[in-house]
Amino acid sequence: MPRAPNPCTYLPRRLQIVASLTAFVLFCILFLGSSGTADSDSYINNVPYGPQIQQGAHQVVDHLPKLPKDLPHVNAPQWLNPFRGPAHKPPEQANSSSGEARWYTDFKWRNPFSSDTTLDEERAVLPPLAERAAIYTYFESTGKDEKSKTAEQQLLQIWRRAWWAQGFRPVVLGKPEAMNNPLFRAVQGLELEPEMDKEMMRWLAWGNMGTGVLSNWLAVPMAAHDDALLAFLRRGEYPSLTRYEGLDNGLFVGNREDIDKAIKQAIASPAMKRVKSMAEAVTAETFTVDPEHSAIAFYSTSTITGKYNLIRNKLDKPSTAGEGLAMLPTLINSHLHMTWQNIFSSGIAVLKPLPEHTTTLIEPAIDIARNLSQCPDTPIPASCPPNRPRCKPCVSSQMLITVPPVFRNTSTLFTIATVPHPYTLTSLLHSRLEPNAKFIRRETDRDSWVLAATKELLGTGLSSFSRLPALKDIIASEYGSARTLWLVGEMPPSRESEMDLEGLDWHFGFTLPRSPMSDGKSETPVPGPERRPPPPKSEFGEGPPLSEQELSHERSLLEQAKMVLRRSTGSRKGKTGAKSFAFMREVVEAWSLADTECWKFVRAWEARRRVERRGWEGEEERFQGKGMFGRWIDKVT
Ligand SMILES: *[C@@H]1O[C@H](CO)[C@@H](O)[C@H](O)[C@H]1NC(C)=O
Ligand SMILES: *[C@@H]1O[C@H](CO)[C@@H](O)[C@H](O)[C@H]1NC(C)=O
Ligand SMILES: *[C@@H]1O[C@H](CO)[C@@H](O)[C@H](O)[C@H]1NC(C)=O
Repeated sequence: MPRAPNPCTYLPRRLQIVASLTAFVLFCILFLGSSGTADSDSYINNVPYGPQIQQGAHQVVDHLPKLPKDLPHVNAPQWLNPFRGPAHKPPEQANSSSGEARWYTDFKWRNPFSSDTTLDEERAVLPPLAERAAIYTYFESTGKDEKSKTAEQQLLQIWRRAWWAQGFRPVVLGKPEAMNNPLFRAVQGLELEPEMDKEMMRWLAWGNMGTGVLSNWLAVPMAAHDDALLAFLRRGEYPSLTRYEGLDNGLFVGNREDIDKAIKQAIASPAMKRVKSMAEAVTAETFTVDPEHSAIAFYSTSTITGKYNLIRNKLDKPSTAGEGLAMLPTLINSHLHMTWQNIFSSGIAVLKPLPEHTTTLIEPAIDIARNLSQCPDTPIPASCPPNRPRCKPCVSSQMLITVPPVFRNTSTLFTIATVPHPYTLTSLLHSRLEPNAKFIRRETDRDSWVLAATKELLGTGLSSFSRLPALKDIIASEYGSARTLWLVGEMPPSRESEMDLEGLDWHFGFTLPRSPMSDGKSETPVPGPERRPPPPKSEFGEGPPLSEQELSHERSLLEQAKMVLRRSTGSRKGKTGAKSFAFMREVVEAWSLADTECWKFVRAWEARRRVERRGWEGEEERFQGKGMFGRWIDKVT
């Protein structure tokens, strides 16, 4: 009988079970019996420390593994959890570091502690990088004089920057792409109107790339990040070939098959030699027309003629055409800036938790906020972008800057936050530069920054650890990242190289004003009150303003804390003298786990943004040749 159990198999099976149970119990006894002490021992042994703080270190380590009671055990960082067996760290991902900052991309990024996922104290978990939808433009220089050529290059740069800031991957195409399209030969034989010839080249170049958005390089996005059209374009899937009412040939979207079909249909059309645009050359069903949209500002000839007389008058005469074109970059940049200012109608908040001691810490953030709130330089004051006729021009009433001590989740408020490393914060709060272990444990509060910054958002009842998911959401979610800029207290962009000021421009999508008044270079009238706005007053809780002496004391504490943090990383490279710095840093980090996590998260977040952009620029450079825009200019015949 096949179903009857064979008595002979019982014995070995039972023996197996007994044997594995025994092995398991033995393993548990061995593992649990030794791991508790072994773990903290190895912690002590691995930490480099100077003899003068050795005693304190033992005490700190004795106390550290006690976690706040309301915290579930799984949330503890890996090294605090003695019951966790050794495990392999997840592999390094490509291009996942920059300087000190390292990161790992994972869907678990909202978990309070990155090290639960990365098993590595230095690697922060960031959300997956959003895929950027490709947006193409076709460029052939038509500029006759130097002025026009320079203006064209500036306009292309404005186009790239504005689309990049809205989450796209802008690509400038030229004749080589059009010629690479198999349909190019079929078009060559046709004798087309000059406008249609150019339009065909654009389409061939676009068809060569495939599915995506085709934009004129004078069409830029001027709308909030979550505008419906921009959100649709960012998705990167275009079910039908679409054009947009009122934008002429400013913007098309479509997939590869539909683009090819439209080109073939146009080539076969008997009307081809007479028409001047794609819409006329193909049947009406070829395009879906979107009548409702307001996100794209297209500076077409007809728009300029209708709205910007000053520029039109110059463009009309050949002798001043270059001058007219040269005004356009400044005008478009001012409109981009003004649109941003209009979107954030509640103004700019420079976050300043613990206001008594962090005045110098937020100076770079104040600098950025003042420049952002300044009225942009413009050749036509009080003019509005083509797509926003009811804008509020920035003439004399500048944007409001506030300095609240807590983060506010208001959709029309832009927040600039500066996160200090807990070592820096401890130095500033206690005017002490060598916080020893005993002092840290007895005299300082844990996670002061995170607790203070989220006091209003999350109330006062939560532990600092359970505030981290909401904080990470503010920094890195789609909603939060469009309304905030996060800086690390120790390496603000304005103290770095020229490159990082430029990084800000790519973040916002326009050039920030960098001079208090108009530089006098433009030949156009400049409105009077363009002076830089004064630094704002702190909202409350600050008491009398700091004296010069107190400020300079704070500044020197900040500079020294930066120095300690820089030096502390030397110990990994074996530098002598770095050990005691590294030890101090580790003690403070272990004491303020949530503040440390937040700092490392912001550091990695900003670093990844830089790496992404530079990687893309590097890729694009291959096509741009040495002289940046030489490729397109050379190929013009
Ligand atoms: C902030 O507000 C938005 C919109 O009201 C909401 O979706 C988001 O969850 C809020 N963020 C936090 C951290 O509360
Ligand atoms: C802000 O403008 C000032 C001059 O007014 C300039 O020195 C500074 O570099 C600018 N900062 C940023 C971040 O653009
Ligand atoms: C990493 O960066 C290099 C150069 O910056 C680039 O060539 C490479 O494609 C990047 N790798 C990935 C996976 O993005």
